[in-house]
Amino acid sequence: MSNRTLTIIKPDAFMGGKAGLILAHLEKQGFKLISARVMKLSKEQAGEFYGVHRARPFFGELVEFMTSDYCMPMVLEKDNAVLALRDAIGATDPAEAAEGTVRKLYAESKGKNAIHASDSDENAAREARFFFAETDLIRA
Ligand code: RTP
Ligand code: MG
Repeated sequence: MSNRTLTIIKPDAFMGGKAGLILAHLEKQGFKLISARVMKLSKEQAGEFYGVHRARPFFGELVEFMTSDYCMPMVLEKDNAVLALRDAIGATDPAEAAEGTVRKLYAESKGKNAIHASDSDENAAREARFFFAETDLIRA
């Protein structure tokens, strides 16, 4: 899975009509769309997905936000995908994100920050399985 990563267009960006713009921005950088879906996460799903942050003070707010409306999980492919996508999305807080990154362009705050990206190959594989069946990810 080292050439693949998992991203989510978060509810702020998806409901703000930015999904197409963000995907086009990433495709221009060489990311290829492997699979995508549109869904509203349950509290259980959001809590499990971001389970590593369960003890953090922002966890409740994060789950509320991620379940507030529809979002768009996607698997993307590119060489060195995890690092490449972390670079492309920018810092967690858009105020600290570099020019031209997705969060600089489309995020409103550290909490409502437009996009998620996996932070390791191991998590990318786990997160892809969280949203997609193996058969959704085949490219023959
Ligand atoms: P993500 O997992 O969504 O790609 O974000 P990230 O790696 O850049 O940041 P992470 O530390 O994993 O935090 C996960 C998400 O929690 C929300 N957050 N809010 N208010 C706050 O201080 C705060 N800190 C984190 C953000 O939505 C962040 O993306
Ligand atoms: Mg993270």
